[in-house]
Amino acid sequence: MILNSCCLRSIPIIQGLLRRQISSRGYSSCTSIISRLTGRTLSIGNRLAQLRKWYTTVNTTDYVRSETARKIIGYWLLGCSGMVYGAVVLGGVTRLTESGLSMVDWHLIKGMKPPRTQQEWEDEFKKYQNFPEYKYLNEGMTLSEFKRIFYMEYAHRMWGRSIGAVFFLPAVFFAYKGWITKSLKPRLFIYGGLLAFQGLLGWYMVKSGLDEEKISKTQIPRVSQYRLAAHLGSAFALYALMFWQALTHLLPPQELANTKNIRHLRIYTHGTLSLVFLTALSGAFVAGLDAGLVYNSFPKFADRWIPDDLMVMSPKIKNFFENATTVQFDHRLMGMLTLSAVVGLWAMARPVDLPRRARLAVNATLAMAGAQVLLGISTLLYYVPVHLAALHQSGSLALLTFTLWFGHEIKRNRLMPKV
Ligand code: HEM
Repeated sequence: MILNSCCLRSIPIIQGLLRRQISSRGYSSCTSIISRLTGRTLSIGNRLAQLRKWYTTVNTTDYVRSETARKIIGYWLLGCSGMVYGAVVLGGVTRLTESGLSMVDWHLIKGMKPPRTQQEWEDEFKKYQNFPEYKYLNEGMTLSEFKRIFYMEYAHRMWGRSIGAVFFLPAVFFAYKGWITKSLKPRLFIYGGLLAFQGLLGWYMVKSGLDEEKISKTQIPRVSQYRLAAHLGSAFALYALMFWQALTHLLPPQELANTKNIRHLRIYTHGTLSLVFLTALSGAFVAGLDAGLVYNSFPKFADRWIPDDLMVMSPKIKNFFENATTVQFDHRLMGMLTLSAVVGLWAMARPVDLPRRARLAVNATLAMAGAQVLLGISTLLYYVPVHLAALHQSGSLALLTFTLWFGHEIKRNRLMPKV
């Protein structure tokens, strides 16, 4: 007894010394070490309690050095992902109010200063008048109207720069404090790289809308739908990675038996996540081609189930990316498929004995998928008004958020045995 209690008290010290080997060996060696240290075979209840303690101290200290530092890093990443969410919404409103092409050059530092004097504003407006959007869409625009679209795009760009500052400055501080461990470091490099890439991609996208030669062919000033989809897709990827990592730091893992049902549910959740992501990408093509302004009826396309101009372009593959009808048709289909997948996920999760938080997450995912489809249909029926389209766009990130949350709640705990 005395020996056992001494051993138990010395566990935290030995944990620290052994954490690297143990985290790479997994559950069985972990429980056998606990058993060896305590000199007794633990009951299942005790094992789970011990494992929970081991997991929170051993597994997460692999990322950061202390509980407080772990939480601070978690909230920081959550804040950064929230700011990326904000940038997506702001970017959507900028596009929907046709403000995105008002700033015709890009400088990381110089671009932070907006025009101040009357002369500076007039010079900026003159520059804008040399580009296709003014010529084909906004001819005769007044200076005060120009200021409105300029400030919209300016806010979007400054928000992007603020995310850079909120990400990079604390990252340097945390590294200096020694809070960032080996396994977190490469992740932070990926987030930082994606963030910088996102800025470059944004400018690459805007440039396609300033190209006189290209725009003069259609006389419709808008950015390339391919570049818009890439810009949106990389923002979604950055958001998802940061949000997932924030959850890993902030939400303690749950004691979830590693059963066959749970394993299947995990695989299915990953499939649903990919579908949400792909549907959002297809939505970016709808937005990029203004394809929400053709066939504003639902469920039929005018009076047909399948529109007759679905495959009019040649080669056929071009229709999927450049024909507004096909792009809208695909997006509707994918939206309905995503909704069905989420209903399937919810039905599959229903009989499984899930912790309260996981149950809440799957219910929220179902509700959001329903709301998102309703928002999509309303956006279409009302001819893409700014408020509905912006809500529909942010709804797609909310749906991704809830699906990620559920995926995180049921993610594999390496220390739980397979049953
Ligand atoms: C779960 C399902 C859905 C998801 C995740 C989703 C996602 C998206 C996204 C991310 C965009 C791009 C917004 C932008 O960049 O501004 C978009 C655009 C659009 N979606 Fe969906 N969508 C879904 C379902 C639907 C459905 C069912 C419809 C209609 C029947 C629909 C109609 C539209 C329309 C009209 C646009 C263009 C709006 C614009 O021009 O800004 N969506 N969708």
